[in-house]
Amino acid sequence: MTIQSMKFEIGDTLGQICCRRSPDQPDKGCLSSTMAHAQGTRDINQFQRQYQQSYDAFKAKGLKLNLTRGKPSSEQLDLSVELLSLPGATDYLAEDGTDCRNYGNLQGIAEARRLFSAMLGAAPEQVVVGNNSSLSLMHDAVVYSFLKGTCDSAAPWSQQGEIAFLCPVPGYDRHFRICEDYGVRMVPVPLGEDGPNMDEVERLVASDASLKGMWCLPKYSNPTGAVYSDAVIERLAAMKTAAADFRIYWDNAYAVHHLTDERIEIANIIERCARHGNPNRPFVFASTSKITLAGAGLALFASSPENVKWLLARFVPRTIGPDKINQLRHVRFLKNEAGILQLMDKHRAVLAPKFQKVLDIFDAKLSHVADVEWTRPKGGYFITLYVPQGCAQRVVTLAKEAGIELTPAGATHPHGEDPDDRTIRIAPTFPVLSEVAQAAEGVALCVLLATAEKSAKRLADMLREQAEFGQTAGLTPSVP
Ligand SMILES: Cc1ncc(COP(=O)(O)O)c(C=O)c1O
Repeated sequence: MTIQSMKFEIGDTLGQICCRRSPDQPDKGCLSSTMAHAQGTRDINQFQRQYQQSYDAFKAKGLKLNLTRGKPSSEQLDLSVELLSLPGATDYLAEDGTDCRNYGNLQGIAEARRLFSAMLGAAPEQVVVGNNSSLSLMHDAVVYSFLKGTCDSAAPWSQQGEIAFLCPVPGYDRHFRICEDYGVRMVPVPLGEDGPNMDEVERLVASDASLKGMWCLPKYSNPTGAVYSDAVIERLAAMKTAAADFRIYWDNAYAVHHLTDERIEIANIIERCARHGNPNRPFVFASTSKITLAGAGLALFASSPENVKWLLARFVPRTIGPDKINQLRHVRFLKNEAGILQLMDKHRAVLAPKFQKVLDIFDAKLSHVADVEWTRPKGGYFITLYVPQGCAQRVVTLAKEAGIELTPAGATHPHGEDPDDRTIRIAPTFPVLSEVAQAAEGVALCVLLATAEKSAKRLADMLREQAEFGQTAGLTPSVP
């Protein structure tokens, strides 16, 4: 490294916390000249001191704030409180006369399957309504595939050697956890604003027969809010896979969870796959966890007739039937597709201000910081905050020490390892608005402090290197 290139890097480091700038204007507005280094070093230390003071003051408030899991708030749960008195002590018959108090009906009552048919993009006969957790359906589908194989498998996955899943990143930690627990190799692929990098996906699935599945969060994804474009969905449906029993785990958890008045619709994966001769490729999942009651909702599955038959056959040794009382009360409460959307508008009224608050605070406090970015989701439960490389864990630690619980850094990546240590998932749904504001302010402070710490350290390292280099070369270092 030459003195000149060191000077440039030092300027760059200063610029990182002093200002955002375009890469083709390395010097403009930044303290990058040798003359400015001494001043810059003082500035960077001063920034760090100021941020440290603000952080200490924040910490001294002794707050207890939580932005970890994407849970609905009590205010949201109250929207569905009527469910608790349904269907009532005298009215528990389904439309075909089934006594919902009793055993039976593995697939779920017809009116419940009809209710969610549009949301899932499948005919009621292709819908299964289960108990309260779609995650458990996903988990079970993986386990059944290991133990029995899918309806297209030559043998159970457990007899087929290594099994791998594509994992668009950033993604949902609970998906990764299922893979981890059952020894599924996770292959990360980058997720953009309109879905995973399809060139990469197509290349991988075409050549690697151990790739049996892929996690997809097609709408308002957890954690970035990405929405898959029709072109991406078309390619997922059409792509050639080396594994004949390849499955897309289409976790449409946020299908109706809009945050704006633009109710985004995406292409129908079941129809597209069928059109391309791959009808069994998608397993579609959703639930009412974030429509009605997170702990007492309905889990939903939709797929081809063959896959539905396969799943129901797996249920036979496991259960004598789902909780149909819960299905009945959901039907009575939500009524129809319009009823679901009306309820989701009420959720939006609670949630949109919380998301806006976080965005306003980040805009005000962090827009000037280089390499700090955040997503602006149009639905779902999360904002993703990207901090400078190597700072995410530090931000989460600083936040924890100041009383703000954040999802662990790295949770958005397989095995909890974000190779760039940049990604932080922000979940603003659970706390009340005033707490969301306090937490966002606190997080912004932690980002500023972590960034300043990193810049100060990098600067100190470079100055030391420059001094050493100058001494070795017999030059007088130009930076004090
Ligand atoms: C993408 C995604 N899928 C599934 C779940 C869990 O859904 P359920 O409550 O139906 O198990 C969540 C919860 O946060 C989620 O974000």
